[in-house]
Amino acid sequence: MPARAPREIHHPLFARFYARFSLATEGTVGPHREALLAGLSGRVIEVGAGNGLNFAHYPGTVSEVVAIEPERTLRRLAVNAALRSGVPVDVVPGSAEKLPVKSEAFDAAVVSLVLCSVRDVERSLAELRRVLRPGGELRFFEHGRGGGRIMEATQQALDRTVWPWLFGGCHVGRDPVAAIRSAGFELGPVRRVPLPERGPRLPTSYCVLGTARRPADTKR
Ligand SMILES: C[S@@+](CC[C@H](N)C(=O)[O-])C[C@H]1O[C@@H](n2cnc3c(N)ncnc32)[C@H](O)[C@@H]1O
Repeated sequence: MPARAPREIHHPLFARFYARFSLATEGTVGPHREALLAGLSGRVIEVGAGNGLNFAHYPGTVSEVVAIEPERTLRRLAVNAALRSGVPVDVVPGSAEKLPVKSEAFDAAVVSLVLCSVRDVERSLAELRRVLRPGGELRFFEHGRGGGRIMEATQQALDRTVWPWLFGGCHVGRDPVAAIRSAGFELGPVRRVPLPERGPRLPTSYCVLGTARRPADTKR
């Protein structure tokens, strides 16, 4: 039987919502984007780049960013953001589960608010590991499970029902740090970042900002 082509990732309503919402929250999220990318250098791959809000925060020590974005509307916005970036950014269609790049080609990889939305977390992390050089760094800023028993039960219920449908495939009850560790990365410092910092907690409030490395002495 011929292999089936993967389903296209096309969320036009979510894309339009996210483009506005992400700009409106940039005052709060921007400083975390800055911290996420501080000190990076060399060739970087950013997966699930969305409308490209990270691009303005890459330091000048980054020689090139390959930004993968599967959603057409967001990708178009990312191309515009790339034109305004201080570092060269190439926006490319593709998905985290099958990155359209060579193995061991990057010094660093970046995911922000993406592991919640990919179809297959394990496969996506295996791909991120494949494309990083040995010793290369994964930077992540992700939301996930948290808040205690009642909030976590709520997150699970949302994930099984309306949340992914409303928010472009997003899940609120995943555990990105555990998934990164299980994928064979060596975890570096991880900081809990509640978003928003003050006020009532939302199912998406339990964020982590951290680094991990592909071990230096591994093949794949
Ligand atoms: C909440 S947005 C975050 C966008 C951006 N990273 C940011 O920090 O603003 C989630 C992004 O993940 C992308 N995405 C969803 N599924 C994906 C997949 N399988 N592979 C790569 N990106 C994916 C979406 O298209 C969207 O751009």
